[in-house]
Amino acid sequence: METKEPIDQFLEYNYPNKAELLLGDTLEELKKFDDEKFNLIITSPPYNVGKEYETKTSIEKYLQFQEKVIKELIRVTSNLGSICWQVGNYVEKGEVFPLDIYYYQIFKKLGLKLRNRIIWHFGHGLHARNRFSGRYETILWFTKSDNYIFNLDDVRVPSKYPGKRYFKGKKKGQISGNPKGKNPSDIWEIVVNDWETGLWDIPNVKSNHPEKTLHPAQFPVELVERCVLALTNKDDWLLDPFAGVGSTMIAALKNNRNSIGIEKEHDYVKTANERIKNLREGNLKLRPINKPIHQPKPTDKVAQVPKEWLSLFEKA
Ligand SMILES: C[S@@+](CC[C@H](N)C(=O)[O-])C[C@H]1O[C@@H](n2cnc3c(N)ncnc32)[C@H](O)[C@@H]1O
Repeated sequence: METKEPIDQFLEYNYPNKAELLLGDTLEELKKFDDEKFNLIITSPPYNVGKEYETKTSIEKYLQFQEKVIKELIRVTSNLGSICWQVGNYVEKGEVFPLDIYYYQIFKKLGLKLRNRIIWHFGHGLHARNRFSGRYETILWFTKSDNYIFNLDDVRVPSKYPGKRYFKGKKKGQISGNPKGKNPSDIWEIVVNDWETGLWDIPNVKSNHPEKTLHPAQFPVELVERCVLALTNKDDWLLDPFAGVGSTMIAALKNNRNSIGIEKEHDYVKTANERIKNLREGNLKLRPINKPIHQPKPTDKVAQVPKEWLSLFEKA
């Protein structure tokens, strides 16, 4: 069955900017770039949780390697540039280690300035038994200097109350909002995968939903797009040092930016290149940026108490 969700049609094919995937170890590949080449580095590094692409080690060893990578990344970031570091938690025997707290200290020690700690909130995921279920990860946005690119107007979202006016003071009666919309704030509601919203509409949803690939830890293209639009200008260069299946490259190309991705797994590089080809040929299905998240109506079957539970409710 086809999804009812609207899908970007990409009528302007053949995105002309460059998108290059390098197969190899990021620390080695990074040494090949000139200082200050990139205006934005955006990535989701491995979390050291034992996914198929990583060998779990102690948190100390994991962070030692990452610190070496971060030093190289800072070298290749331009003075106007930003680094966006998207992470969740490392978990050891049920104890949670919030990775952004560890990473913040590394970036701060190396002289970067935090501009936002963005909460990426998603409504679905595994249900925990011995703690509250995790429903957010974070993006640490750092800049190298105080003079950095920030195009707020390019990422404004529709205002909830566009007709609101100042009710006192010199501007009393004047419209208080911005016709281009409001600042999207530091809490972002972006679904992990398109099928999570489609699930409510399509009872027998297929596993081959629009963005999902073979990668077990993809981030949504939409998440990257907001950073790309706000933190870079047209034709700038972006880098993803842990590129996976190329979500950053897709977001960059779609918004007329050049990009390089580094990834050590051959199969992910292959998939990334296929996705880029599909985008250029107009065949890549993506969730449109800023599309509202689907809310089930009270009349939808999934939003109602199942008949098997009704007797429990009556007894209470
Ligand atoms: C969290 S995933 C990134 C997924 C990516 N954001 C996407 O949407 O596809 C981290 C990726 O880093 C890669 N990786 C881990 N260590 C690496 C290294 N030393 N050099 C290059 N790639 C590495 C893994 O293979 C994995 O694909």
